[in-house]
Amino acid sequence: MAVLPICRFPDDAVLRNKAKRVSRITNSVQQLIDDMIETMHQARGVGLAAPQVGVPLRVIVLQMPDEEEATIIINPEIVKRSGEQEVTEGCLSVPGYYGEIKRSETVIVKGKDRHGKAIRVKGTGLMAEALEHEIDHLNGILYIDYIEDREKLHAIECPPTTQEQ
Ligand code: NI
Repeated sequence: MAVLPICRFPDDAVLRNKAKRVSRITNSVQQLIDDMIETMHQARGVGLAAPQVGVPLRVIVLQMPDEEEATIIINPEIVKRSGEQEVTEGCLSVPGYYGEIKRSETVIVKGKDRHGKAIRVKGTGLMAEALEHEIDHLNGILYIDYIEDREKLHAIECPPTTQEQ
């Protein structure tokens, strides 16, 4: 396993591209998943999407602060959203900032696990926020795109306390 460099806005164009579906879960996809989990842990993030490490594939990993294992979703698709929450969000690809946006309170995502088995993942609160955030990355969307009012984007002047994704 290896820690990979994290792509940053606005330097890395891969962050703005739509990622491709994974058709076969090859050894290199397995390696990518292991590296993404290690990179997420090292960066102390709660989620990471493959484009953030320069790979344009639809793979996300997530791990909430109280969870012992990462959730891996290949080709994730949101099948249901409900409710709304206001969140203070950060992104490992937009270092130095955080912003206030709205996310769904609960989402249900379908996809595949690393063995190719169909899975459904339900998330509420921070997990719902992270699922939407990571799936947005697969579509070239960053949380800052939702911020119209510049007052809602803040520079971090001291070490971050928000959960970066
Ligand atoms: Ni992010």
